[in-house]
Amino acid sequence: MKIEFVAADTKADAKSAIAVHAYEKAALSDAAKALDSEIGGAISRAIKGGRFTGALGQTLDILAPHGVEAAHVVVVGLGAADKVNGHIAELAAAHAFQAVKVSGVETLLIRVPGTSAEAAARIAFGVRLAAYRFDKYKTAEKPEKKPSVTRLRVAVDDPRAAARAWKAEAGLADAIIAARDLVWEPANVLYPEEFARRVKKLTALGLEVEVLGEKEMKKLGMGSLLGVGLGSVRESQLAVIMWKGAKDPNAQPVAFVGKGVCFDTGGISLKPPEGMEEMITDMGGAAAVTGAMMALASRKAKVNAVGILGLVENMPSGEAQRPGDIVTTMSGQTVEVINTDAEGRLVLADALWYCQNRFKPKFMIDLATLTGAIIVALGKDVAGLFSNNDELAENLLAASKATDEVIWRMPLPSQYEKNIESATADMKNTGTRHGGSIQAALFIQKFVNGTPWAHLDIASTAFKPNSTVPTIPSGATGFGVRLLDRLVADHYEG
Ligand code: BES
Ligand code: MN
Ligand code: ZN
Repeated sequence: MKIEFVAADTKADAKSAIAVHAYEKAALSDAAKALDSEIGGAISRAIKGGRFTGALGQTLDILAPHGVEAAHVVVVGLGAADKVNGHIAELAAAHAFQAVKVSGVETLLIRVPGTSAEAAARIAFGVRLAAYRFDKYKTAEKPEKKPSVTRLRVAVDDPRAAARAWKAEAGLADAIIAARDLVWEPANVLYPEEFARRVKKLTALGLEVEVLGEKEMKKLGMGSLLGVGLGSVRESQLAVIMWKGAKDPNAQPVAFVGKGVCFDTGGISLKPPEGMEEMITDMGGAAAVTGAMMALASRKAKVNAVGILGLVENMPSGEAQRPGDIVTTMSGQTVEVINTDAEGRLVLADALWYCQNRFKPKFMIDLATLTGAIIVALGKDVAGLFSNNDELAENLLAASKATDEVIWRMPLPSQYEKNIESATADMKNTGTRHGGSIQAALFIQKFVNGTPWAHLDIASTAFKPNSTVPTIPSGATGFGVRLLDRLVADHYEG
């Protein structure tokens, strides 16, 4: 998507759609009123004869009106005028794009004179995210199915100020898109070493990257993470991404840890075939952490941050780990592996221990597509938050509110710890059927040694087959990138 900020009076050519806005009760914006008179009152007539009320989410598409060259005029609902903010501007812009994306027009010209540079940037942000698709493997797509809109023009009073504001936001959009790409990428392409290679390229953004292979991890005693990868011909990796943006280079970092199971067959506790292909997304936590680190680097956040990715493939084979195996984690604690499909927590156990041992972070947050049970509990729009620290949890909830990446705090009741007691080892990797997400979180907590910690179970939100949010096309969402970026921006910088 080519994004341009142009003067408010910029005309549209024949391959364009012009978008203007309306509020509740179909009250037209000034730009909409001006355009309405240019096209002989076509907007007013269409409103009179139709059901358009100006609610957010509604669009009214007028074809080839007399008086302008443009092929479409789209009136986009913003809802109540006193509730319009950056978030609504972003959503409305995404709706405008969705309304004309396959219409044949090439340019979407959104007319917003009187709008701040920041709001103009949010419009660009919304269209950029809405236009996302993962089409690199489509070689024979029917032309009529391909989006035709390839250029966004935001018409504003001060295009240069808007372009500057966009420059500051574009890095976050890039980061969300990078996370979506990683989630979509199939497991024959994106296996642990390839993931690590892609992460290494982020040094171009000023990030430092280290990658540990199996030999190094063995030396560190990461028997739990390595056990998960035993059945795979692909080598397990631990990627460490560092951003040093604080004034004091030795300032305690914030830390993010991502589950990066590049494919989860379940291992010897094999999953049923139905839907197993979705397990290409089981590295959604690692993708979100990667995206968050990119976002921090792109805006040169004044913070020290580390991102740690536990990258493995969970496969069944003659060398795979078995149910009943006992592994020794880097912490020294032993785990009886009851179910090889509860592999994410085994990966996080060592990744989290390594993180707090090496970096002594201010806090650590892990993100993981950890349990199907969180989908049962919270549905597909809400991720589970578990934390041993109220301040960190509150800050995350505030960031969630600001970004509309919805999370809900879940309990860590100590009475369920008995469910993961093992007869022969220090703990086992699964508990009872009920409260599966909680028991998974309690397991992970055993590898947190006093550090403020939060766990986000994003099995619900990382991948949405049926999205209804205009900025999130169905599929990989990039969930978590915005949340973490906002958390740092609002609470941990400076
Ligand atoms: N990767 C899955 C969880 C998952 C399920 C992610 C659906 C996305 C969509 C995880 O590794 C898993 O298999 N969890 C098991 C745990 C069980 C064996 C205790 C589950 O949720 O069934
Ligand atoms: Mn699994
Ligand atoms: Zn998994």
